[in-house]
Amino acid sequence: MNFFLVSFFVCLPGISALVVTSPAPRLHRNAHVSSAAMMTDEEGPAVFPSLVVNHPRIPAVALVSGDIMPALAFGTWKVDKDTTADIVYQAIEHGYRHIDTAPDNGNEKEVGEGIRRALNSGLIESREHLWVSSKLWSTHHKKEHVQEALLQTLSDLGIDYLDLYQIQFPIAIAHIPISERYPPGWVFDPDAKEPTIHFEKVPLQETWGALEELVDEGRIRNIGLCNVNVALLWDLISYARIPPTVVQIERHILNQRNKFLEFCHSLNIAVTAYSPLGDEGYIPDNLAKNQDSTLSSPTVLNIAQEHGKSCAQIMLRWNIQTGATTLVCKTSTPSRLEENMDILGFELSQNNLERLSKLDKGIKFNDPAVFMKRMNAFLPIFD
Ligand SMILES: NC(=O)c1ccc[n+]([C@@H]2O[C@H](COP(=O)([O-])OP(=O)(O)OC[C@H]3O[C@@H](n4cnc5c(N)ncnc54)[C@H](OP(=O)(O)O)[C@@H]3O)[C@@H](O)[C@H]2O)c1
Repeated sequence: MNFFLVSFFVCLPGISALVVTSPAPRLHRNAHVSSAAMMTDEEGPAVFPSLVVNHPRIPAVALVSGDIMPALAFGTWKVDKDTTADIVYQAIEHGYRHIDTAPDNGNEKEVGEGIRRALNSGLIESREHLWVSSKLWSTHHKKEHVQEALLQTLSDLGIDYLDLYQIQFPIAIAHIPISERYPPGWVFDPDAKEPTIHFEKVPLQETWGALEELVDEGRIRNIGLCNVNVALLWDLISYARIPPTVVQIERHILNQRNKFLEFCHSLNIAVTAYSPLGDEGYIPDNLAKNQDSTLSSPTVLNIAQEHGKSCAQIMLRWNIQTGATTLVCKTSTPSRLEENMDILGFELSQNNLERLSKLDKGIKFNDPAVFMKRMNAFLPIFD
C-alpha cells in the first residue's frame, strides 16, 4: 500500500471517510463506493489515481453519506471580487475539483462566474464533476431564514444544489433581510455610533432541523459545521437525524487540535482544515503578527530544505499526514495554485512530524474572542 494511503488510514482510526483511489466520473452518493474499491494493497508511487476525470493528483474522500469529496479544496476568502472568476477558473484548470465558498466572503457571484466559465468551456464535463461547499451565515440561523440564505447562495453561484452546506459559526445574530444588506457581516448597524453585534438566542437544534429539511428536498447533499468544539458537536449528535459529515476548523501547526480530530474520526466525521498556512491570511487584518509567522519558522524552513519543497508545501503536507481529511487553501497568485496541489509525492518522516508537533501553541487567528472585541462584543466560543 503506498505511504500516502497508509498515512490517511493510520491517521483516521475507524473512520469511514476514506481516501478513494479508483477513478469515478461523478461525485455523487453511491457512485461506486465500496471498501474494496477504496482500499488497495498495490505498491506504487505516492500519487493518487484521480477520482475526477482528467486529473491525476487530487485524492478524494468517501464520506459516510456515500458522497465522494475531493480532498484538496480551493478557498475563496479574501479573493478580490475583480479577480475571483479568473482564479476560480484557473484553479479548476489546474485540477482543483472542490471550491470552498461562503456568502460572507462577498464574492459568491464571481465564484459562480468562474464555475460557469469552466462548465461552458468544457473544463468540467458537468456540474456533478465539481464539489461546491458553502456556508450558512449567522444572521440566518432561525428556521424561517435558512432556506432564504441557501437560495441566495445557489442563485449567486448559478447552481441548483450544494454538495456541502456548513453553519459557519455556532453563533446566531439578529436577522438582516437579504434585500436590506448582503452580505450582512457581523455588525447590526454599521452606521451606529458604536457599531456592535446583536446576538440572538437561536438553539442550534432549530438551525440543524432546517438544514435537514433542505437535504430532504435535495437542495443540499451534505451538512456540517465550522468553528465548533467537541462539547457542541457531541450535543448535536444527540439530536441530529442527519449527522454532520464534514466539520471545518482552523488547523495549522500553531493550532493542531489533535484531540478534536481524534474525536471526529471516532464519529466518522471528516475534518477540513482551513487556514492551513496559519497566520498568512490574518496579518493584513492585524489578527496575526509577523512574529507568529509559520512560513518563516526555522523548523519548517529546515524541513522544507531537507525535502526540496517550499515551507507552504511542508505545512500542507503536515496537515494531511496528521489527520486532516480535507485541506482548503486560498491563493490569489496563479503560480501558487500548482505549488499548493503538489503535496502528494513526498512524505514527512517521523522525526519531521515530531519536530513540527512541538510548534503547537494553540493559537487561533480566527477567534471570535479576539475579533468581536473590535465590534464591542464578546463571545469566546472556544473557551
Ligand atoms: N469556515 C470558516 O470560518 C473559514 C475561515 C477562514 C477560512 N476559511 C476557508 O479556508 C480557506 C483558506 O484559509 P485562509 O485563506 O485563511 O488561509 P490559507 O489558505 O492558509 O492562506 C492564505 C494566505 O497564504 C498565502 N499563500 C497561499 N499559498 C501560498 C504559498 N504557496 N506560499 C506562500 N504564501 C501562500 C495567500 O497569499 P496569496 O493569496 O497572495 O497567494 C494568503 O495570504 C479560505 O479561503 C476559506 O475558503 C473558512
